Amino acid sequence: MVKICCIGAGYVGGPTMAVIALKCPSIEVVVVDISVARINAWNSDQLPIYEPGLDDVVKQCRGRNLFFSTEVEKHVFEADIIFVSVNTPTKTRGLGAGKAADLTYWESAARMIADVSKSDKIVVEKSTVPVKTAEAIEKILTHNSKGINYQILSNPEFLAEGTAIQDLFNPDRVLIGGRETPEGQKAVQALKDVYTQWVPEDRVLTTNLWSAELSKLAANAFLAQRISSVNAISALCEATGANITEVAYSVGMDSRIGPKFLNASVGFGGSCFQKDILNLVYICECNGLPEVANYWKQVIKINDYQKSRFVNRVVSSMFNTVSGKKIAVLGFAFKKDTGDTRETPAIDVCKGLLGDKASISIYDPQVTEDQIQRDLAMNKFDWDHPIHLQPMSPTAVKQVAVAWDAYEATKGAHGICILTEWDEFKALDYQRIYDNMQKPAFLFDGRNVVDAEKLREIGFIVYAIGKPLDPWLKDMPAVA
Ligand code: NAI
Repeated sequence: MVKICCIGAGYVGGPTMAVIALKCPSIEVVVVDISVARINAWNSDQLPIYEPGLDDVVKQCRGRNLFFSTEVEKHVFEADIIFVSVNTPTKTRGLGAGKAADLTYWESAARMIADVSKSDKIVVEKSTVPVKTAEAIEKILTHNSKGINYQILSNPEFLAEGTAIQDLFNPDRVLIGGRETPEGQKAVQALKDVYTQWVPEDRVLTTNLWSAELSKLAANAFLAQRISSVNAISALCEATGANITEVAYSVGMDSRIGPKFLNASVGFGGSCFQKDILNLVYICECNGLPEVANYWKQVIKINDYQKSRFVNRVVSSMFNTVSGKKIAVLGFAFKKDTGDTRETPAIDVCKGLLGDKASISIYDPQVTEDQIQRDLAMNKFDWDHPIHLQPMSPTAVKQVAVAWDAYEATKGAHGICILTEWDEFKALDYQRIYDNMQKPAFLFDGRNVVDAEKLREIGFIVYAIGKPLDPWLKDMPAVA
């Protein structure tokens, strides 16, 4: 029986290993983590992450051929294939701070593998890493390797949170990069044999190590670039009276462009896009390619612009001040169907409104009050370190309340900001909400989820990203 051990029981390690265990009953899969709380949660009925379909997959194979454990060294020692799926945050200090990937967690995992291994291992990079990381990992593993043969593979993960299980069941592609030596190719084949138990062979791509590592960074940069492109056009739509939904539809009908990832919004979030682009920018700079670095930097600049443009719109519409006003924030997760708040645009929007002294009442169906307070108290980039390394009880941010439903959050509010596209926000009773708000009642739709015309009929003053402006908003000062 092949034994797999995955180091890192997070958003990637947990779901990917659960699906491998489900699809490959003859493989024993153990997911290990240094966080006791996370492992306890994986072994309980309340999994540590919310992902549609995940509970069902875990229930089917946990205790059969899927295990979660904190005995990291024991399971690494026993494994034939070791996936490393630890976090790779942006460095916050020292050389490359604010851009480069912090490989502390990766390096400590690699050193531990080197220390405890007594048999040959295939070590798989599952985390997103800078191109050429495999070379550094190889050095750590083979230095004083006691004659053990290590093969490093790059197998980046392309799942999207919110649809992770569907993506893993039916991936567009699985990418495996390895050394072009006979041993390297044997290792590639061994990993390919795992995936082809459910993924059609023509969707399993094999490349050299550096292409696989770089493909992940490039894919995320391309995806984020589409969002920034449509968001940039959304600003022009508002200035000219064009409608971003119509423009995006017309553009996306071109088969060379395609319709996906063209929804204008308050900005992209999530743990990966910004971090991976910053990492790409840093690599370009280190390789003497400042023009290429600046090109990709612009994707992040537009994203930041879109968030601050939204805040400015809220403030300028409400008579140029939100001081002391209650603003209801509907949605805090970075997108629907996940409880993940890492780099969510809601953090920047809330901080912007708090900066103007608003009082905020937040409702999100999947995000806890503790998480919201932690996010609003944390410094940029600090979130991407294991939970046990973060402050346990952040000082609660005054002026922020967390509500149990949208009606409570909006009661007595002067304005509403919709920041996550949860389906339930489409079906709210907006007449009831309007009746319980201060007047004039404002609604700022950062995800284009509501029917703006219907809401205007009720009496709301509505702002929707990239849509023709309400006459009220046109009269307000221009938004920079
Ligand atoms: P995460 O933060 O949810 O999970 C990482 C886990 O690794 C944590 O539970 C942490 O305690 C554990 N860990 C850190 N150092 C360890 C060590 N030395 N030994 C044992 N456990 C250790 O991170 P997530 O979201 O799963 O991401 C992991 C990697 O996958 C990152 O490089 C990310 O860029 C990449 N990725 C993430 C995607 C996502 O949607 N979240 C999608 C594709 C790639």
